[in-house]
Amino acid sequence: MTAAPFEPPVYPYERLLGAKEKADAHPGGAVDLSIGTPTDPPPAAVVAALSTSAAEAGYPFSAGSARYREAAAGWMQRRLGVAADPSAVYACVGTKEFVSTLPQWLHLRRPDRDTILHPAVSYPSYAMGATLAGCRSVEVPVDDRWNLDLSAVDPTDAARALCLWVNSPGNPAGQLDDLGAAAAWGRAHGVPVFSDECYAEYTWDGPPRTILSAGTEGVVAVHSLSKRSNAAGLRAGFYTGDAALVRYLSEVRKHVGMLVPGPIQAAAAVAFDDDAHVDAQRERYRERLAYFRSVLACLGVDAAMPGGGFYLWAPAPDGDAWGFTERLAAEGGCLVSPGDLYGAAGAGHVRVALVRDLSRLAVVAERMDVTPDPPPP
Ligand SMILES: Cc1ncc(COP(=O)(O)O)c(C=O)c1O
Repeated sequence: MTAAPFEPPVYPYERLLGAKEKADAHPGGAVDLSIGTPTDPPPAAVVAALSTSAAEAGYPFSAGSARYREAAAGWMQRRLGVAADPSAVYACVGTKEFVSTLPQWLHLRRPDRDTILHPAVSYPSYAMGATLAGCRSVEVPVDDRWNLDLSAVDPTDAARALCLWVNSPGNPAGQLDDLGAAAAWGRAHGVPVFSDECYAEYTWDGPPRTILSAGTEGVVAVHSLSKRSNAAGLRAGFYTGDAALVRYLSEVRKHVGMLVPGPIQAAAAVAFDDDAHVDAQRERYRERLAYFRSVLACLGVDAAMPGGGFYLWAPAPDGDAWGFTERLAAEGGCLVSPGDLYGAAGAGHVRVALVRDLSRLAVVAERMDVTPDPPPP
């Protein structure tokens, strides 16, 4: 008997097509807050650098150019307060490909292990990477504040684990986890810890954090320009940390041909060098989070200000996230994501991505006939 052929699972956001139709039907169109795709412009200097690098003709370095790696390391030093060695900083083509191909490279290195541990409510690509590598994904429970509960990991799962993913500030819940504790757990159990830190500069409670503050042994920090610089279209990120592990990954990824295009590398370095545009973007997100919390409060929904990130993680009335999603689409022309897209434990919440400007958010309030507090001055 032959095994059933592998069928790729439905892409999570395709499940929203019904609600999208309803939101699209509003005059003026949908206010799409379902996907965390930035819509504010990247810095003009970054866009200009795309056409002046003279990096089109030759193949780019898979690891990233010296300029790219130095700019990323300089950024880590300035913004996260850790000294990263540029020679241990490696480029990736945005981080989604890194996240979802990682399990196969780790399994190749450790065929005796087959499990990816990830937060029970999290970015779906952690689990999807395991599926695409023929590995197991196992959820690590989260507590009532959406923080990882590493004490709940089954020792047999830990013994089979290729890695643990952590994500702080977290998508979708905006929680801040104790990254030092995650690093310590990984070291104690012999499990590499990968820390997805793409929202680090949108930390609201305290300074941005990185797992590398706990040292590099057994840990890897993963960063992206997509959210920081409104540059998801560029596809540029990097990973750095445990010297042996990142070197291994860079070698396999070089064989595969994972390459950030040369002109993109040049533009990305310009983005890493500049912080002013991120500070301005922080203020935009802070304003929008406050404003839309007030819109939701008018609907009787109490969404807490997140510890970080640009999402509101809102408890749906009566715990019916799909019902609330449909209502927001039908009445407000507003598209949000039901929480079960991020794991069964998220089923009673919706995620609202504040990626549209205040004038579009006000359209939702108007359509739903509510009067929220005006945005902070
Ligand atoms: C937690 C998290 N990690 C990684 C990514 C991937 O970002 P990119 O591939 O654009 O770097 C996202 C995008 O939404 C995300 O929310």
